[in-house]
Amino acid sequence: MVQTTFLAALLLACYTPISLASALPSQKTNSIRNVNNNEHLFVDASHAIRNAPPENVVTLGAHTRPVTYAGSGLSKRGIQLGRQALDKRTQDDPPTTHLGYIFYQRHATINVTWGNKADAASPGQTMLSYLSMTESDTWTPSTNYACIGEPAPRSADFKFPVPPGTPPVNQSVCHFGPLYDVSQGNFTNLTQIMMADGYSPDNMYLQGSFVKTPITVSGLTVNDQVAAIVEQAAWFGDGQFSGMLGMGYPIMTTPCYRANLTGAGTYDPFVFRLMKDKSKNLQPVFSLAPNRVESGSPAWADGGSMALGGLVPSSYYRGNFTTVPVEKVPWAYGGNTKNNDEVYAYYATTVEMLYGPPGTDLDSPYTPYNATSIGNPVMVSDAFQAVVDVGTPMTLVPNVTAYAIGQLFIPSATYNATYSYMLINCNAKPPVVAIRIGGPNGTIFHYDPRDLIIPFTEDRSYSHCMSAIADSGPGSNPNQGTIGLTWLKNNVMAVDLEKNLMHFAARRPY
Ligand SMILES: *[C@@H]1O[C@H](CO)[C@@H](O)[C@H](O)[C@H]1NC(C)=O
Ligand SMILES: *[C@@H]1O[C@H](CO)[C@@H](O)[C@H](O)[C@H]1NC(C)=O
Ligand SMILES: *[C@@H]1O[C@H](CO)[C@@H](O)[C@H](O)[C@H]1NC(C)=O
Ligand SMILES: *[C@@H]1O[C@H](CO)[C@@H](O)[C@H](O)[C@H]1NC(C)=O
Ligand SMILES: *[C@@H]1O[C@H](CO)[C@@H](O)[C@H](O)[C@H]1NC(C)=O
Ligand SMILES: *[C@@H]1O[C@H](CO)[C@@H](O)[C@H](O)[C@H]1NC(C)=O
Ligand SMILES: *[C@@H]1O[C@H](CO)[C@@H](O)[C@H](O)[C@H]1NC(C)=O
Ligand SMILES: *[C@@H]1O[C@H](CO)[C@@H](O)[C@H](O)[C@H]1NC(C)=O
Ligand SMILES: *[C@@H]1O[C@H](CO)[C@@H](O)[C@H](O)[C@H]1NC(C)=O
Ligand SMILES: *[C@@H]1O[C@H](CO)[C@@H](O)[C@H](O)[C@H]1NC(C)=O
Repeated sequence: MVQTTFLAALLLACYTPISLASALPSQKTNSIRNVNNNEHLFVDASHAIRNAPPENVVTLGAHTRPVTYAGSGLSKRGIQLGRQALDKRTQDDPPTTHLGYIFYQRHATINVTWGNKADAASPGQTMLSYLSMTESDTWTPSTNYACIGEPAPRSADFKFPVPPGTPPVNQSVCHFGPLYDVSQGNFTNLTQIMMADGYSPDNMYLQGSFVKTPITVSGLTVNDQVAAIVEQAAWFGDGQFSGMLGMGYPIMTTPCYRANLTGAGTYDPFVFRLMKDKSKNLQPVFSLAPNRVESGSPAWADGGSMALGGLVPSSYYRGNFTTVPVEKVPWAYGGNTKNNDEVYAYYATTVEMLYGPPGTDLDSPYTPYNATSIGNPVMVSDAFQAVVDVGTPMTLVPNVTAYAIGQLFIPSATYNATYSYMLINCNAKPPVVAIRIGGPNGTIFHYDPRDLIIPFTEDRSYSHCMSAIADSGPGSNPNQGTIGLTWLKNNVMAVDLEKNLMHFAARRPY
């Protein structure tokens, strides 16, 4: 799932044949190409993006979420600790003594409204949903869903899909928030097509029906969006969220035939449908500026903004945008290793990590750098491909880099190879860390020192913390990583889905 690194999070969906139904809007809308503002912010003015219409800029939530550590996936113990925390009971176990302990992060959430029938009491049902850029389906659990229990992390006994007749347990075990009332919802059941997704190594599981239904986000509606109503789940929720808004490319959608559980192709996710709808006259762009949110803030604390159809307001960023192409990745979906085509799937780009001991002068923050301005003792990692994801809390990098950065905290981190984490003192002095995007002459984007130390608990009651720069975990590809929320909080990202370009600018300090 979102907390694992992208290759480790092998999505065990039904075997989807690689049907590369064109992912992208095929026709350009002339009027939106005549961009004549913000051009000064883009090296290539033809890539400039206008501000989004104000009504399509939505405030994100900043949801407290227990997360299991990246490399390890969920464990029974992680679930127990999560439950204790959710129950606001004392966590009396030091996290280092248990596999799969949790830490706390704020997860970007967004309201997704599922349209109701004409005669329903309200026009729609607003589901508090996690925002994910490493998934593409939009889903919500039905009032009638069968909870088949907590996930059984890494259990060899995990059967995928869950055998028919598996008895349900009380829905409270799966711990979703308010559920989607199917009796009110306006949807057409795509009866031949189902969702059957398992997540490794967590062994979380979702099964449901794909339907067509009106979906509204940020004031914009797609009338007949393909989305999934979950009817069976092995899940560990947080009691508040009830869905997902998947922002990834169409290849990551997961429809499969009910009859034989083989792949039923792909469909255009919400954001792609929206951008293709010429009547809306939107730029084919979404942009994100998630906030750093203080511990203890409510779930709807201002978690930053997402804009559909253009840039978030300029109050969020300063300086220019750096533009890089979205990189295709080899795609071996659902175990179909024969077909390893390179496809647009994740928001991937090749980056380097720059780092030095605390106090290293990388120049003043929020200023773009260039290679010659970097002197000793700044170190530069080998280049690696990274997926940008607002739904992943940490930055997951090749072990050698995570380890080296861990050593630069004062006092230095203790590396635990069993669980692939870097334990640090919560009062440690963090090193200077940045990510360079766009090659050796690219732009350097900083981490705020406040974001480099991750507490285990929302209230920081443990004396130990983790480095936000973590190892992708055992078994992960050493040349790949994930750039998560800890970095995105310090930057603004815009994705042009028509040109397959990503644009990054530094956040104004806040
Ligand atoms: C990691 O931490 C666990 C729990 O404290 C400990 O049992 C294990 O030996 C540690 N592993 C390493 C390699 O330090
Ligand atoms: C999300 O929806 C809920 C319920 O409709 C509402 O109370 C809340 O204010 C909304 N939040 C945002 C950020 O729009
Ligand atoms: C119900 O959904 C269909 C298509 O998904 C849409 O055309 C229709 O307008 C919706 N009805 C209402 C009352 O919103
Ligand atoms: C399910 O769990 C909830 C919360 O623990 C409880 O209130 C409810 O009575 C349970 N329902 C059944 C049928 O056991
Ligand atoms: C959709 O149709 C399938 C097949 O008939 C059925 O099993 C499923 O429960 C239906 N889902 C919904 C949400 O109506
Ligand atoms: C699976 O079922 C669908 C729908 O009946 C069919 O079109 C497809 O050919 C089947 N695939 C396989 C591999 O049997
Ligand atoms: C942005 O780029 C333009 C053109 O390359 C340059 O003239 C301008 O100074 C840059 N602005 C900032 C704030 O760096
Ligand atoms: C790179 O930075 C150095 C030192 O700040 C500066 O002298 C040089 O002009 C910069 N080069 C470019 C191409 O901006
Ligand atoms: C980086 O910039 C320098 C100086 O402008 C140039 O000589 C070099 O070829 C550039 N490297 C790349 C990889 O573009
Ligand atoms: C990570 O690096 C450390 C230090 O070099 C090493 O001890 C450890 O085994 C490495 N872990 C993995 C998973 O490669």
